Amino acid sequence: MNTAPSDPIAVFGGTGQQGGAVIDALLARGAHVRALVRNPESERSQALAEREVELARIAIDDPASLAAGLQGVAAFFFMTTPESPSLPHIEEETQQGIALVDAAVTASTPYVVFSSVGGAERDSGVPHFESKRRVEEYLEKSGLPATILRPVAFMDNFAVMGPTVENGELVLRWPLPDHIPLQLIAARDIGQLSAAFLLGTAEAPGGTLEIAGDERTGSQLAAAFGEQAGLPARYEALPLEVLGDNEDGQAMFRWFAETSAYQADIDAVRAIEPTLWDFPAWLRARG
Ligand SMILES: NC(=O)c1ccc[n+]([C@@H]2O[C@H](COP(=O)([O-])OP(=O)(O)OC[C@H]3O[C@@H](n4cnc5c(N)ncnc54)[C@H](OP(=O)(O)O)[C@@H]3O)[C@@H](O)[C@H]2O)c1
Repeated sequence: MNTAPSDPIAVFGGTGQQGGAVIDALLARGAHVRALVRNPESERSQALAEREVELARIAIDDPASLAAGLQGVAAFFFMTTPESPSLPHIEEETQQGIALVDAAVTASTPYVVFSSVGGAERDSGVPHFESKRRVEEYLEKSGLPATILRPVAFMDNFAVMGPTVENGELVLRWPLPDHIPLQLIAARDIGQLSAAFLLGTAEAPGGTLEIAGDERTGSQLAAAFGEQAGLPARYEALPLEVLGDNEDGQAMFRWFAETSAYQADIDAVRAIEPTLWDFPAWLRARG
């Protein structure tokens, strides 16, 4: 399958960052997209409809709605997400993924792409990674033809957790020691890469691929912000305590700092997606 199929490609999470980027990339390649949405009347759903995306109303706890949404599709992209970092919500994330896999089995979906998280398979102990690992395992056992993409930290996090300007200087503060290089990917590239798999123009040996577009320490990230803004910039590492009672977030930043954490082969990812963004490219695009 090297051209866009005439049957739709279903996307779960199309009103969000990852699914939205998948839809952008699929539409740019001429594919017909069906977004599985819980609220077709929402502004974000309606914005998709205006771009000729078909909307299917689904409810995650209504298996018939999910299977109907997947009827006749050529392929299916899904991600999962907890409603909040609380442990009960993280447990629900696994149930969300299981419901989507079950629906794909019921609908005999020919091919599935699941966006999990980098390191899910490496016993991270991070609750919202382990919840995705359980979805991966369930998908693997389902027998569905599938590719699991494992994105590292999103560059897009810096749109909300970026630097502040203090006395004419940019100051970037994260709860991560400065010498630790952190792998990053643009949500846009999760879309580009997923589209390549959904349309059959890319393959992952073994059915899984950890995906990143850059790797930077805190000071290197601050410097990139400074260069973009034309301002001096510095990084300040914060203690984990700034995450308060967010045990999940603390576990993740501890995993970043104390282990080899994300391990994507960026050159291999760029071979699949030659326009892969590094952090300065993301900054330029986002202004
Ligand atoms: N940020 C990072 O650095 C990073 C890195 C790797 C992995 N991740 C993972 O990425 C996930 C978040 O992805 P994202 O940023 O694309 O999320 P997002 O922008 O918050 O979007 C979430 C999407 O899921 C939909 N959704 C959520 N719950 C639903 C439900 N019960 N029924 C139907 N639709 C539902 C939302 O629909 P509505 O519009 O109706 O709300 C929205 O389309 C998390 O699991 C996170 O762990 C994040």
